Amino acid sequence: MTKRVKGMGPGRRKFLSLLSVAGLAGLGPANSLAAASDGGADRQRSRDVILSGDIILKAGPYLQSPFPDRITVRWLTHVPCFSWIEYGAGKDRLDKKAETINDGLVQAYNTVHAITIDDLGPGQKYYYRICSKKVEDFQPYQVTYGDTYLSDAYSFETPDPHGEGVSFLIFNDIHDRPESFPLLLKYQGGDKKDFVFLNGDMFDFQTGEDQLVDHLLTPFAGLSAGIPFFFSRGNHEMRGKFARHLPEYFNSDSPEFYFSFQWGPVYAIVLDSGEDKNDDHPQYFGLADFDRYRVHQAEWLKKEVEKPAFKKAKYKIVFSHIPLYHAGDWHGTNHCRESWGTILNEAKIDLLISGHTHVYGIHSPVKGQHNYPVVIGGGPQDGKRTIIRVNADRKRLNLEMLDDGGRQVGQMTI
Ligand SMILES: [Fe+2]
Repeated sequence: MTKRVKGMGPGRRKFLSLLSVAGLAGLGPANSLAAASDGGADRQRSRDVILSGDIILKAGPYLQSPFPDRITVRWLTHVPCFSWIEYGAGKDRLDKKAETINDGLVQAYNTVHAITIDDLGPGQKYYYRICSKKVEDFQPYQVTYGDTYLSDAYSFETPDPHGEGVSFLIFNDIHDRPESFPLLLKYQGGDKKDFVFLNGDMFDFQTGEDQLVDHLLTPFAGLSAGIPFFFSRGNHEMRGKFARHLPEYFNSDSPEFYFSFQWGPVYAIVLDSGEDKNDDHPQYFGLADFDRYRVHQAEWLKKEVEKPAFKKAKYKIVFSHIPLYHAGDWHGTNHCRESWGTILNEAKIDLLISGHTHVYGIHSPVKGQHNYPVVIGGGPQDGKRTIIRVNADRKRLNLEMLDDGGRQVGQMTI
């Protein structure tokens, strides 16, 4: 039996702290990203659902790995649940259901939820809500369910590789400063965004799930329910005891953090640039093996740039947290360049977008190095933080970089 109980239980304190961070994020309906999601105002109401004295929802929903025919919805719960998604073509027509089934077992008794909806069409709008039924007790021959959390309805749009245009935002090098997101989002521009790209070093190092919630998912609450974000690792995401758990929370289609996607006229290749020092550096305690990983990615990259869709794409954009150039001569930069530089030049990419150096700038092509511009976003301190916004249609691509005072600090057109 499904019921919603307004909020007074022992979870009340947690609820208030979540709200205050969401409030900090300033993601009310006036925010165009939040408004586009149908989830801005509803979002806070969702947080007020407390069942059996517990808050079931911990974070989310947030959209990952958008493709023309599928998308993955993720969320976290405080207690083990059995979860599913109800979705459909209208807010009041959530007539289909998706759940995760692995080798015959319907996923259950978990707190990290990822459900892929895989019967979608390109460039279509869909509505969904997340549903989590608390599992009170899981015995071999007796499963006892508790109450069910049902979210409000959110909407999203699938990418269309043949679509006319695309608009997106890029953040990099936030370094555990969640207050930077609402500050920079003030300068996102008024147009509807298709996705957000997180270009590495959102954190200093990984400590645990609560850090992901407090420093990323909660500041993004309300927008990431309706607009997917792509998560690319920076070198700082390789550090700390929780670094090896990130694949449980982000992306979905491949276990690796390098991938490609196509949205309208843009074909994007995302490279996972790894650590910035030698694998045998004492700081890594024998636990890094990024040289082989980057060489392995080079083999994948060679095949990627041979794909007809890549060759035909109007704009070929590569994301790599560590820039291959203009980033000093540490091992990471040098090895990214050795591994991928020639392939990217020969593939005639249009743009490389990076972060890492904390010095923002747009670098024109340099003969003998890179035959494409290199955009580097700044961060993380006041005055050095940037938001990058990109708008592209079949005629031109416009990129603007703004600092945390809203001042334009870079602009280019392709
Ligand atoms: Fe970095």
